Amino acid sequence: MGMKKILVLHGPNLNMLGRREPQVYGTWTLAEIDAALQQRAAELDLRLECRQSNHEGELVDWIQQAEGSVQGLLINPAAFTHYSYALREALAAVKIPAVEVHLSNIFAREPFRRQSVISPVVSGVICGLGLDSYLLGLEALARILERDGEES
Ligand code: DQA
Repeated sequence: MGMKKILVLHGPNLNMLGRREPQVYGTWTLAEIDAALQQRAAELDLRLECRQSNHEGELVDWIQQAEGSVQGLLINPAAFTHYSYALREALAAVKIPAVEVHLSNIFAREPFRRQSVISPVVSGVICGLGLDSYLLGLEALARILERDGEES
């Protein structure tokens, strides 16, 4: 197959990282997060493409289009985590392993954040560790792909 490809999807308002509630989300910009992920991906022999959208339908389109060309999804659905059945069903419809990540600990915040409608359809979830949530999520995907490769 050649080098495996991971698609990183960032949901709404994550383009504002760095100046958006830094006490909650940290001071990393999205560009810095993507650069850190690219570096780790190179070490893991993975190809990485990072995208951000404020629009639910655009994220749904990207998930649908990923089938066939992408082997893993790393997704921070942001606020869509808590209510987007469209995003959940897009993830359920494609046969691509996905890991959900959050910068903040969604269980330590407002009650509405404790529910993720996305979690039931992904392989695993990592939250509360800031930039490390993304890096550990990427490593988890690498391990899932390695394990799947051994089985087939
Ligand atoms: C977030 C947590 C969500 O509750 C919130 O809506 C976000 C970011 C996180 O990364 O901590 O936008 O997904």
